[in-house]
Amino acid sequence: MAAGKGTRMKSSMPKVLHRLGGRALVAHVIDTATRIGARNIVVVTGHGAADVEAALEGAAAGATPSFARQVPQLGTGHAVQQAAPLLPDDGTVVVLSGDVPLIGESTLRALVAQSAGRRLALLTIRTPNPKGYGRIIRAEGQDDGEVLAIVEEKDATQAQRAIDEVYTGVMAVPSRLLKAWLARLDNKNAQGEYYLTDVVGFASVDGVPIVAHRTDDAIEVLGVNSPSQLAALERAFQLRQAEALMDQGVRLADPARFDLRGTLACEADVEIDINCVFEGAVSLGAGVTVGANCVIANARIETGSVIHPFTHIDGEKAGVTVGAGSLVGPFARLRPGARLGAEVHIGNFVEVKNSTLAAGAKANHLAYLGDATVGERVNYGAGSITANYDGANKHRTIIGDDVHVGSNCVLVAPVTIGAGGTVGGGSTVTKSTEPGALTISRARQTSFPNWQRPKKAPKA
Ligand code: UD1
Ligand code: CA
Repeated sequence: MAAGKGTRMKSSMPKVLHRLGGRALVAHVIDTATRIGARNIVVVTGHGAADVEAALEGAAAGATPSFARQVPQLGTGHAVQQAAPLLPDDGTVVVLSGDVPLIGESTLRALVAQSAGRRLALLTIRTPNPKGYGRIIRAEGQDDGEVLAIVEEKDATQAQRAIDEVYTGVMAVPSRLLKAWLARLDNKNAQGEYYLTDVVGFASVDGVPIVAHRTDDAIEVLGVNSPSQLAALERAFQLRQAEALMDQGVRLADPARFDLRGTLACEADVEIDINCVFEGAVSLGAGVTVGANCVIANARIETGSVIHPFTHIDGEKAGVTVGAGSLVGPFARLRPGARLGAEVHIGNFVEVKNSTLAAGAKANHLAYLGDATVGERVNYGAGSITANYDGANKHRTIIGDDVHVGSNCVLVAPVTIGAGGTVGGGSTVTKSTEPGALTISRARQTSFPNWQRPKKAPKA
């Protein structure tokens, strides 16, 4: 179910598209449904339906779900009614909410097992604050008595409101039974809505066994209704990811100041300082250390490399590779297609884009390498740049092995600096150079001996 408005988000974006761990809320739910082996995934859309459908078509990890539009939104029962025609009769239906993103795979598997093709299985939880939730009504008010009904807050009596076991919004039910019950729903209740929860009463009347499967993990059934709840759930989610990484041996300086919006694969002895953000697919080789305040997206950092503080690495689609034993930063920027070999040094305020740097190459200060192929052991001086763009097209710069480029040079592409060559500081190089050559292209220095600077006339 993903048709609700989400009024309390006070956002123009549909609630289920707000992000948790960098991924739309509803995408988390679909991922989990995929992982439990769902045969069909039907998303009920309503508010912002076109946006939700477009987002899910693009971002689908597995198969794109099918969509059932619910316009207007007349309640959870009405929502599931819209999906029913898309569901085969022979299966088990699991009802999930698009705004409850952290529902667990093992919980859902257990719930389906409880349903066992013949029972209505409800996921419930005990909570000190049951306000707003549907209460689980049991026979003789007993703790583990037979479940008779779910009563919504607004329809509940004073005594029923005191019940602390609530319905989480998740159920597993044989499709055939669900479809028959959906046809019997009405909206004669305090909210004038078609309540999905009324199926519980029908099951009870029809003699279909009802099981309440209780979870004790409040996080997995928390819904997002407001920015504050979204932020709280984000922290809970991040803490879980941080703990999972620490269980694998990753040393996080502070799990409360760590953000992973994607996947992070780490080998042994990885250390990550505070306030780092990882996005997309990132892998860190053995012994890699990441300094404070780095943002790293879609990159592979190989064994023993050190990423110093305040470094920004974003491989986007092309990716970034940092070879073993490299030093990057502080304040470095690696952009898509940056491929660093082993023991490359990239220092402060150096930007690298779509460039390959072979083993041992160094660009330590204030430089730009774009569309360049840089040989082994090249030293690329402070303030030097590849002028890779002529206003219409991009061109490559090739720098041979063991070249020394002085400070403040402009290499105007397309251009090749022959292996072992030297480019004098301040040169603008527009023609390719021979291996081993010294190239200087700046005005020859002129000095005037005993030069007298102008003086002010003495005061009268
Ligand atoms: C529902 C349950 C309540 C349970 C609570 C758990 C009903 C009648 N009540 O409450 O027992 O404790 O969930 O959170 O089912 N939605 C639609 N279309 C609609 C209405 C809702 O798609 O017409 C979606 C919402 O976007 C949301 C989900 O269904 O993702 C739950 O709706 P919400 O209004 O939050 O739940 P309640 O009906 O208040
Ligand atoms: Ca409601």
